[in-house]
Amino acid sequence: MTAEPKHLIDWKFWDDEEVREMLALARHVKRRRWEFQGHLQGRTLVMLFQKTSTRTRVSFEAGMTELGGHAINLDWRASNFTLADVRSETRYLSRNSAFIMARLKDHSDLLEMVEGATVPVINGCCNLYHPCQALADMLTIAEDRDADPRGARLTYIGAYNNVVNSLVSISAALGVALTLVCPIRDDTLVDDESRSRLLDLGLLTETLDARSAVREADYVYTDTWVDMEYFNDPAFAEEKERRSKLMMPHQLNAELLAGSRARVMHDMPMHLGYEITGELAESERSIIYDQAENRLDAQKAILLTLL
Ligand code: CP
Repeated sequence: MTAEPKHLIDWKFWDDEEVREMLALARHVKRRRWEFQGHLQGRTLVMLFQKTSTRTRVSFEAGMTELGGHAINLDWRASNFTLADVRSETRYLSRNSAFIMARLKDHSDLLEMVEGATVPVINGCCNLYHPCQALADMLTIAEDRDADPRGARLTYIGAYNNVVNSLVSISAALGVALTLVCPIRDDTLVDDESRSRLLDLGLLTETLDARSAVREADYVYTDTWVDMEYFNDPAFAEEKERRSKLMMPHQLNAELLAGSRARVMHDMPMHLGYEITGELAESERSIIYDQAENRLDAQKAILLTLL
């Protein structure tokens, strides 16, 4: 009998110790990249995208190449996932690959994929979670502090979204004090279980006072106000306009950060002039490109661990 594979749906499903070990491995892999060459020789990762991507696609593919394996990019629209059920298509993928990374629109489809899979499934961002991003974020904070992220004060300003759910769950595992400034919040997309856990740990503050939240922070993080799926959708134009008006007072810019020593983070892609100014994104306090680069080592740690 074969053992059930371990999946990465979100960090909330992993033990805290496992999350700490994952972060430690990501740091180690980055410091000693050459040591891991060939570790995944002969292994194939299937990457399935139902939504657009730059970083997730590139970092997983580059990661597989550097580890000696191979990655296949499968566009949902060009595949027979459009014609068949997720479970049976995934059962087939498991026969020809060592793991599957999927960026799907609906969390329910991801869960169906897990049911059909006999190899590890990695969530490359669904409507509820973005665990790979959260690991890269914590790797960036750990590197910046040259220490464990425990005790770091992270302020997130933006919509309460999939990135936030994963930041909340990984913060609980790693002891990061998270402040959320989220004027846009759809309660159906909030993971109440993770939120309650972080609250119970005394590590979650929720406020709409961006100025004081920034003053207290070591790191200030923002993300798009409109999900990438809808950003250029004419049908979403009115909602985009409403969100932009609501969020503009919370834009990350030099004025909001005046008097703060916080480093600036963004998971990218950035919408300059909306959630962040170009000037701030390119300023000395920005660690945005380190954060994006760290997707590579975070993905490698995930792949090595799951195999
Ligand atoms: N942050 C992130 O997931 O980037 P991509 O959407 O470009 O993959």
